[in-house]
Amino acid sequence: MPPDPPDSEQLVLAFLAEAGDEFVSGEAISDKLGLTRAAVWKHVEALRAHGYRVEAVPARGYRLAAVPDRLTALELRPLLDTHDLGQVLHSYEELGSTNDRARELAEEGAAHGEVVIAETQTAGRGRRGRAWISPPHRNLYFSAVLRPELPPSRAAELTLVASLAVCDALRSAGVAAGIKWPNDVLAGGRKIAGILTELAAEPEKVDWVVIGVGVNVNARAEDFPEELRGEATSVAIERGLPAPRALLAAACLGRLEAWLDAHAERGFAPIRDAWRERSVTLGREVLVRTDGRELAGRAEDIDDLGALLVRTPERVERILAGDVQLLRPR
Ligand code: BTN
Repeated sequence: MPPDPPDSEQLVLAFLAEAGDEFVSGEAISDKLGLTRAAVWKHVEALRAHGYRVEAVPARGYRLAAVPDRLTALELRPLLDTHDLGQVLHSYEELGSTNDRARELAEEGAAHGEVVIAETQTAGRGRRGRAWISPPHRNLYFSAVLRPELPPSRAAELTLVASLAVCDALRSAGVAAGIKWPNDVLAGGRKIAGILTELAAEPEKVDWVVIGVGVNVNARAEDFPEELRGEATSVAIERGLPAPRALLAAACLGRLEAWLDAHAERGFAPIRDAWRERSVTLGREVLVRTDGRELAGRAEDIDDLGALLVRTPERVERILAGDVQLLRPR
């Protein structure tokens, strides 16, 4: 008999994952995947050795009872419903920064949708030169290489696209998330996820964009430095329950691809509408730090390039980049 193809274990896992809480018979798996019953058993044993809990009940079959809390291709691929994003996955136990690795890969010719993910970062970067706290095995740190057909002047739209995706993935995990302009994802008024977008471009066309996403998933208050504890939160803190990171990673990538497709097909208009619906900034009094100056006013809207429009006593200011502080509660 010819040997099993090398990824049969992943196919068995995908089959079990698709069945969710249901049992699937060994016969159904072997028929569907063209494997012998003995081969199916062998792959189930291999999955168990990799930390999966697979229940086996006579006359009912197999059921996936628990997925190990790791973020390698073995865990993620079966959960992904994307055509491009994450189909090539570079997973690391430790990196300086997933954005740095993704940038290197992009420069070396990585394809649209390749994703770098790490269990921890020793030099995780946030916006405006800040550090991103990256404790091991608790959160999500990933970066996607994109090759959009866009002029450089429209690349900033992708940051808002990414914030929508992460906000929706968190909502699907039971967190009441909202977006603070441009792309901070908040829950209960504190930051739960951040996005760092970097790009290389020629005058007329973007060469690559790297979208780096950090989501605080199972971080506890003590994982954040004391000065950040009032400002940062996590899924586990918000729900009072830890969350399966692989499922959330897959949800983020799935939503990111869906919103990127909407952006490629229909432009910025649907993104702008969806962003407005999820915004916690619009309609609020804000303090904006931009270009070494501060201005206070009411955040009125975002324009058709994603810039924030703030009404000050003198005029409407158009903010392209900056830090927003929400002043009074609504
Ligand atoms: C911010 O809100 O300041 C942006 C934070 C972005 C953090 C993520 S974690 C994965 C990727 N790698 C990095 O070094 N930064 C981004």
